[in-house]
Amino acid sequence: MKRELVPEHIKKVIPYLPGKPLSEVERELGLKDVVKLASNENPLGPSPLAVEAISKHINEVNFYPDDGVYYLRQKLASILNLSMDQLIIGNGTTDILGDIARTFLGPEDYAIVADQTFLVYRLAVQAVNGNLITVPLKNYTYDLPAMAKAITPHTKLIYIANPNNPTGKMVTGEQLDRFLNSIPEHIVVAVDEAYYEYIEDPSYPDSLKYVREGRPVIVLRTFSKIFGLAGLRIGYAMANEELIRYIIKVKCLFNTSHLAQVGAMAALDDHEFINEGKRVNREGYQFLAEELNKLKIKFIPSVGNFILLIFQEDPYKLYEKLLRKGVIIRPLKKWNLPQELRVTIGTYQQNLRFIKALKESLE
Ligand SMILES: Cc1ncc(COP(=O)(O)O)c(C=O)c1O
Repeated sequence: MKRELVPEHIKKVIPYLPGKPLSEVERELGLKDVVKLASNENPLGPSPLAVEAISKHINEVNFYPDDGVYYLRQKLASILNLSMDQLIIGNGTTDILGDIARTFLGPEDYAIVADQTFLVYRLAVQAVNGNLITVPLKNYTYDLPAMAKAITPHTKLIYIANPNNPTGKMVTGEQLDRFLNSIPEHIVVAVDEAYYEYIEDPSYPDSLKYVREGRPVIVLRTFSKIFGLAGLRIGYAMANEELIRYIIKVKCLFNTSHLAQVGAMAALDDHEFINEGKRVNREGYQFLAEELNKLKIKFIPSVGNFILLIFQEDPYKLYEKLLRKGVIIRPLKKWNLPQELRVTIGTYQQNLRFIKALKESLE
């Protein structure tokens, strides 16, 4: 009997399609001065303190990095009032999201994800041949009561993006509390807080309290957004010591580079850069909201560094027109949002360029 080379569950995986890189658009369309507002990156560039630290340590890359990431874990533990054993560092949070599926899902187990959310959760589950239940959003927000209802005795893992990417809506501390108190103890909940540092709403959850209480909650954060280090690939997760010990067993050896580790440590001290990032984002959001209202384009109020735009018809042609004008934003058909586009909040100049291109494209 002929045996298949690749298992069925791998054949079924639909690969993630990232935001178009600047260089690709410039090459394909023969454009210069392209603006990328497609991947929720930091429009201010990388943290200057991180760049300085990376330059200082560049001659050390002949050595393998510290696999245990001692100093960064020590620093994060002290800032966050956790123990070092409650932290794991990954090659971006995406790396750890995959490790979580590999650690906790056996062949009979199910994971619950939202239907319109960061696609990596679904891919992480599919890659380990886990079973998936998807729950639609309600008013563009995670429907936690519906997710709780979807739980069966086979449910093992639930991914929650807070705020949700691509809608920018968050669940509150009270909602998360109610949800976590209503679900069985054997379910691991991964709460992805990639946009944590941007959030100014006081009702946002203090999810580290679940970690400190030893509950099976894993909180993930990243250096890719406000710290401006998306290209370095470094993020972290926090959970009780036991869960972290298991995740370490499946993690890839040397998954974060030495330069990423020293860059991330320096970025944590870059308070000026972080505050500037928040200010630019807050003012950028206000500017874009006003302009979108003037254009009568519906959008979802966002607590992150991006905005979801809603159109009456398929906006793919509009996305292409913007591309030709050198502005890259994100179509969301693959995210089950065919009427929507997502735009990252940029600098004032970038936002202006986007609005101008949008106006011209709509005419
Ligand atoms: C919800 C969410 N989680 C994780 C990530 C990726 O983070 P990282 O760059 O740390 O892998 C993103 C990036 O867009 C995101 O939106």
